[in-house]
Amino acid sequence: PSSSSASSGYFLRCLSASIPSELVFTQSSASFTSVLASSIRNPRFSTPGTVRPLGIVTPTNASHVQAAVLCGRRHGIRVRVRSGGHDYEGLSYRSERPEAFAVVDLANLRSVRVNRARATAWVDSGATVGELYHAVAKRRPAFPAGLCPTIGVGGHFSGGGFGLLQRKYGIAVDHVIDAVLVDAQGRLLDKKAMGREVFWAIRGGGGESFGIVLSWRVRLVSVPPKVAAFIVPVSVNDGAVDVLTKWQEVGPALPDDLFIRVMVMNGVAIFQSLYLGTCDALLPVIRGRLPELGMNRSHCREMSWAESVLYVYVGSGQPIPVTDLLNRTFPMDSSNKATSDYVRQPIGRDVWAEIFAWLARPDPGIMILDPYGAQISAVPESATPYPHRGGVLYNIQYMNFWSAGNDEEPNVRWIRDLYAFMAPHVSKNPREAYFNYRDLDLGRNVVVGNVSSYEAGKVWGEKYFKGNYKRLALAKGKIDPDDYFRNEQSIPPLVRRS
Ligand code: FDA
Repeated sequence: PSSSSASSGYFLRCLSASIPSELVFTQSSASFTSVLASSIRNPRFSTPGTVRPLGIVTPTNASHVQAAVLCGRRHGIRVRVRSGGHDYEGLSYRSERPEAFAVVDLANLRSVRVNRARATAWVDSGATVGELYHAVAKRRPAFPAGLCPTIGVGGHFSGGGFGLLQRKYGIAVDHVIDAVLVDAQGRLLDKKAMGREVFWAIRGGGGESFGIVLSWRVRLVSVPPKVAAFIVPVSVNDGAVDVLTKWQEVGPALPDDLFIRVMVMNGVAIFQSLYLGTCDALLPVIRGRLPELGMNRSHCREMSWAESVLYVYVGSGQPIPVTDLLNRTFPMDSSNKATSDYVRQPIGRDVWAEIFAWLARPDPGIMILDPYGAQISAVPESATPYPHRGGVLYNIQYMNFWSAGNDEEPNVRWIRDLYAFMAPHVSKNPREAYFNYRDLDLGRNVVVGNVSSYEAGKVWGEKYFKGNYKRLALAKGKIDPDDYFRNEQSIPPLVRRS
């Protein structure tokens, strides 16, 4: 312990020598706790028992990020990077094991520079997707990424990034055309300098394993001036089980400009939709393909694409001003636990009836089903590290919430029990999972000889990345063979011996 506290001291001194002091917060700084809490989205990881960083750096330019990595390397202190702080297991700002580490928090690096003529943008990792959407939507381009406006671009893009435009345009990483990365040697690398394999890896393989991604160049996509959105709840008594059973095959086979997802909770399935067209054009499609939904003209609203993000996210049925996309502090004060599955064969009606019984148990959570098919499924599995493509009908997210301070045990048990129950009905060998819905129950790294074990990492790595796991490990072996950028689920380095 004495040598580790000595290296912590040297590390912090190194930081103060190279980064302006107002950007460095140590545990004894007056604002340490508020800076740490600024983007914590899961109070479960903000308790007296949470292993906190010994310092937080809030860089305002790339050289500060490089300096933090160089100080960390020199003094044997790892850094974790935080962009929007939404990690489900809090790995951007806490360690599960006792460990001295620091956080590089990118919240100050959040500009979005749009090139309208080329329909591209450079977006910094510390921007939220809401800030990105607000900046690009002014003259109608859009960008296909997640629904929740406060998610950080850094973590979201580096894990894949899907949302309402996924059937038309695929996911965020399908549109990344360049990036700037600080690697474990403190070098600043663009796409060319980082090399093909590393550029491939950061687009869905989890940025934190390869370095700190500062910015991303993306291709924008186009949407009509007005889109149509609807939210239709169907209760179990009104036939939710039947509509859901049918949706499983209809949802992934609809035209690519129509996306209908489902939130399933106690006693009700809520169908939420975005259509890249008018209500008049949408109605006959729904009446023809999913008449059981009982959707009519009064459910449908036309609005801009940017408005539709908030409309569906908030789900209140009321339009919300687009400036709310810029709100970085949407209240999110309940503790939560999540996990995910992919479904490749429709689940039987009787099983859905049982699932509704699970959702009616004490301390239940919710399920969110996002339909695949069309563009998201057309991209080959190895084009990006995100492998859940052809043949996937839909993704399931399971999530449970409870008030901070309440007993988490029954809530976490509910989700684990339902996950076990679902095993026969979802993808197998491997049972696929979404990296951005991180779940440490799927497995953790085992460190052997100060390097994460490639073999042990397969347990979780092949669920998130299927056959791409090995290629990710080889990319990691190239850019960070010493495993400096490491967390409980970072890609282990695989070094090819020649
Ligand atoms: P955070 O800062 O916590 O980082 C997450 C991980 O990425 C950490 O391991 C971190 O070290 C690493 N990282 C962050 N910035 C990095 C950088 N610049 N370079 C390298 N590594 C970096 N997903 C989705 O696809 N569609 C959706 O609609 C939603 N919706 C949603 C809603 C809510 C309320 C939550 C909490 C989460 C989602 N997600 C989601 C999941 C989301 O995509 C996932 O949590 C992202 O990793 C969040 O990125 P942040 O930057 O906010 O997280």
